[in-house]
Amino acid sequence: SKRTIVLMPGDGIGKIVLPEAVRVLDAIGFEADYVNADIGWEFWCKEGNALPQRTLDILEQHKIALFGAITSKPKADSVKELAPALQGKGYTYYSPIVGLRQHFNLDLCIRPCKTFKGNPLNFIRRGPGSIIEEPEVDVVIFRQNTEGLYCGVEWTNPPDDVYKALNTHPKMKNFAWCPKEELGVSTRIFTKKYTTRIVRAAFEHAKKFGYKSVTLCEKPNVIRETSGMMLAIAKEVAKEYGGIALWNTNIDAQMMWLTKNPEDYGVIVAGNMFGDIVSDGFAGLVGGLGFACSANIGGDIAIFEPTHGSAPKYADYATPIINPIAMILSACMMLDHLGEVDKVTQIRNAVAKVIEEGNVRTYDMLKLKGSPDVVKQGAASTTEMTDAIIAQL
Ligand code: NAI
Ligand code: MG
Repeated sequence: SKRTIVLMPGDGIGKIVLPEAVRVLDAIGFEADYVNADIGWEFWCKEGNALPQRTLDILEQHKIALFGAITSKPKADSVKELAPALQGKGYTYYSPIVGLRQHFNLDLCIRPCKTFKGNPLNFIRRGPGSIIEEPEVDVVIFRQNTEGLYCGVEWTNPPDDVYKALNTHPKMKNFAWCPKEELGVSTRIFTKKYTTRIVRAAFEHAKKFGYKSVTLCEKPNVIRETSGMMLAIAKEVAKEYGGIALWNTNIDAQMMWLTKNPEDYGVIVAGNMFGDIVSDGFAGLVGGLGFACSANIGGDIAIFEPTHGSAPKYADYATPIINPIAMILSACMMLDHLGEVDKVTQIRNAVAKVIEEGNVRTYDMLKLKGSPDVVKQGAASTTEMTDAIIAQL
């Protein structure tokens, strides 16, 4: 039977890029039924819930989804934009994509960053006034998606028992001067189970695709009980994967190294926040948000999305100009997940060809200061980019 894919366009440019990815899936002959599901700002305004129960039900039923992007706004604005009939009834806005990750326990976040040859954005300066070479980055980041510093366990003015527990901690004697009301606490929680899952997923990926190293990118010398725990787990897991080296870097040093020798890295694994940081760092080296794709994978549900947000500035163009490639590559990750490896290769090759030929470029692939003269500023529309990719298939 044909499979059903859930489509969650969301807000802003999410609504533009998602149909483009579906056009590519159709062109490659991927057979599926599609069902739309409501998510995002529109539904917060209309019904006080950006992630309606009916959407959770559809996902529960069909398991695999493509997601565009959502808009989120500060608390004061979110209350203002709620439908008048819903005002004053205690509705609270929660980011629906963070909500999805937590509801379905999508604990594995995978973000590949691979150079497309000829992308003008590959040319980075490596010294005053000179471009030395085009780096060939091929990195896959495995980010723990549900725990760590983004787990949402935090307080200002913490409850008495928490305050008391902190105050009896030897390190907290430095904070004894601070009144409870003036104390902010965000917790960084790592569990052995989910830390092991992300580390193991990283090694499995390295083994399957022939990467020579897995780099644990944390800060174990300082954050000993969480980063240190992750390092200890990585050392244990590494023993099962002969031939794959375990490297251990600190997040701060890693951000410096990735500007100097990004080619040296293969698979990278990190907790939630450092994984977020290091994946944006590498994304910047392969073209930025227009090229950054990702997968959120749980037990049996998987959601594929570009890393970028809803880019409201670009949402209302009569002829959209934003880059559909991040969304198209996210759809490729979905095909990969479904075992459609040939189709992935064909689409990736088509994207690579369009970029290398350089005749069709969206605005974000613009000429950089100091880059070679042959580089033209991108003037192609979103649909022209997709058309060019489809034409190469
Ligand atoms: P953003 O990613 O939406 O856009 C920032 C800038 O990046 C844009 O103005 C544009 O210049 C560029 N850009 C993004 N996607 C592009 C594409 N496909 N092609 C070419 N250029 C692109 O981030 P921003 O402006 O910080 O957030 C806008 C809204 O999106 C906010 O409401 C934010 O909360 C939300 N957001 C949602 C995410 C999600 O749905 N997963 C992730 C990040 C932000
Ligand atoms: Mg981020």
